[in-house]
Parts: sequence; structure tokens; C-alpha cells
Amino acid sequence: MGEGAKGQNSALVRTLLGEQQPHPPIWLMRQAGRHLPEYRELRAKNKSFLDFCYAPAAAAEATLQPVRRYPVDAAIIFSDILVVPHALGRDVRFAEGEGPLLTPLEGAEDIAKLDMSRLETRLAPVYEALQRVRAAMDADRALIGFAGAPWTLATYMIQGRGGERDLARAFAYQNPDLVDELLAILAEAVGQHLIAQVKAGANALQIFESWAEDIPGHLFARLVTKPIRRAVDVVRAVYPEVPIIGFPRGAGHRVGQFQQETGVQGVGLDIAADLSAARSALGPKVCLQGNLDPMALMAGGAALEQAVDAILAAATTGPHIFNLGHGVVPATPIPNVEYVMRRVKGLA
Ligand code: CP3
Repeated sequence: MGEGAKGQNSALVRTLLGEQQPHPPIWLMRQAGRHLPEYRELRAKNKSFLDFCYAPAAAAEATLQPVRRYPVDAAIIFSDILVVPHALGRDVRFAEGEGPLLTPLEGAEDIAKLDMSRLETRLAPVYEALQRVRAAMDADRALIGFAGAPWTLATYMIQGRGGERDLARAFAYQNPDLVDELLAILAEAVGQHLIAQVKAGANALQIFESWAEDIPGHLFARLVTKPIRRAVDVVRAVYPEVPIIGFPRGAGHRVGQFQQETGVQGVGLDIAADLSAARSALGPKVCLQGNLDPMALMAGGAALEQAVDAILAAATTGPHIFNLGHGVVPATPIPNVEYVMRRVKGLA
């Protein structure tokens, strides 16, 4: 696994490969970010979010901040899913308080201009950040690389912003050949980006399908699982062993189909997904990940204890990685995060 020998035998990797642990390993989506004062300080010095993502020392530092503070079993590289469309030549901006903004992709001409040849060069700073993190972190903690799934990236590229998905689906109905072509290009780009992350030291990978919601059953394979499978196959042709987690947010009712058609070793569950239904759909070997409500983490108290314990009870039915059902929100008190870490590890 490239230079990634460190972390290969971590609890997170072993769990993904099917080995259930006495206490599930834990990491949190968006663990590096605005709930940490040290992140806000670093962010203030790196005004442009994309430049921050492309500054290896700063990105490595942001990745390591939660690792220093919490006993997490994994770090996730500080980056963004939108670096891939950016590296393919699309215009991506992060406006204060608005989230990402892209110039909407309109048709065949824009797709023909997507330039795969510069992907790895343009994303080299991300790989350098991964190398720095892997070198700085102990071997018992895993380093997770990630990418957006092709359909989620296509949605952002077509809509030009987050939250809205109608135009992207309309585009898929109106231009079936173009959407297939776009998804094929993105699957290849995602695969290449993930391979480069493993080469740089990632021990496991997560593919974020943040917009798996609202996809009719007859389009789910075409838009969601086949493009992810393609990216997974690209990765496995080079790194057959590296475990991959798929996170089909909003499609918790289709996790069985999702896992079978993508072939991922782990499935991330969103806030609303039912853990025991997912376990029944997936059988005893597939690793589940999730799915504490970030609002329970923010709220704390008895409600948090109950929510954590319900997941821990379900986590006895097979390999499980404790995580949230979506990202940590900025208002989350640090003691609540510390409490969850202790509770999950059997220390509170
Ligand atoms: O800690 C980590 O999880 C690693 C870093 C990470 C970021 N984005 C950093 C980030 C990861 C894994 C992502 C994934 C990502 N980015 C997703 C998939 C997960 C999901 O939320 O469904 C999506 C859809 C994006 C696109 C994106 N980037 C949005 C919608 C936003 C704005 C909303 C927000 O949460 O601020 C971003 C910006 C972003 N990405 C920030 C961070 C830390 C906030 C930037 C800041 O500090 O101002």
C-alpha cells in the first residue's frame, strides 16, 4: 500500500476488513473544522478556503488538530470534494456564509473541456498534505482519504451550488447521453484522485454521495451505484486491498442495493438510517459506520448518552465504526465530543 504501511494494521482498517472490535473505532465527519478554536485561528490566517486546502502545511495542521485533542481512531484529510471539479478546470469559489459556488456546467462543450491530464499535478498539494499527516501520526491511527461520488460532483457542477438538486435530475432526464459521459469522466477522475491519496499514505477511503437523496429507484443504479463502482474498480486495479467506505446520504433505505452494486467494504449511514435494518440488509460481515445525530452531539446531556448507547447496542451485531450521520456543526461543545469518545471506548 504505497508508503502507507503505517496505519495499515489500525483498528479502523481491521474493522473495515470485517473484524469486529470490543469497542468500535471512532472518527467524526467534519472533525477538523469550526467547532475547534484552533481551527478558527488557522482559518483566519487562510482566508481563501481553496487556497487553504492547497497549502500542505496548513491542511496537514487542520487534519491533525482533532487527532491531538481527541482519541479518534482516524484522521480524515482536510480537503474538499470540490477540489476534483476544480482540478478538471471548473470554476469553484467558496463565498462567506454561502458555501460553494460553481459556474454551472451547461452542455456538451463544457463536458468536452474537462481536462483530466492536469488532475494529479493540480492536486499535488493535497497529496503532500497526506504525506505530512501520515508521517506525523502514530501507526495505530488510520488516515482516511476521500472524494465526492460522481453524481454528487455532477450535481454541484450542474446546479452551481449545494442544496438544490432538481436541475441536475432534469439534466439527467433531458440529456441521458451527456450525463452518462459526465459520470464516466468523474468516475475516472475520482478513481485517480483516490489512488494518488493511497500512494501518499491514506489507509482507507471514503466516497461521499451526499446527494443520494431523491433519486427514483429506476435511476439509482445509473446515477449512483454504477459510477461509484467504476471509481472503486479504478482504485482496486491498483490497490486491491485498500478498504473503501461509501456514504449514500439520503438513501439509507437502499443500503443493501448500494453495497452490493458498489462493492464497498463499509457503508456510512445518515442520521435517519436504521442501524438494525441496515444490518439485516447487509449481513454480518459488511462494516457499518454512523450514525449519531450531530444535533444530539451538540445538545449533550442525557439525550446524547441515550443516542450513543442505542448505536453501541446496535454495533454489537457486526463490524461497526462509530461516527455521526453527518458533519460536526460549529456550535458543538468540545466536552460533548470528549464524552462521546470516552463512552464509545467504555471509559464513561
Ligand atoms: O473534517 C473533515 O471531515 C475533512 C474535511 C472535509 C471538508 N469537506 C472540509 C470543509 C470533508 C470530508 C468535506 C466533504 C464535503 N464538502 C462534502 C461531503 C460531506 C457532506 O457534507 O455531505 C460536501 C457536500 C462538501 C462541499 C462543501 N464544502 C460545503 C457544502 C461547504 C459549506 C458548508 C460548510 O459546512 O461550511 C464546504 C466548506 C467546507 N469544507 C468547510 C470545511 C471545514 C468549511 C469551510 C470554512 O471553514 O469556512
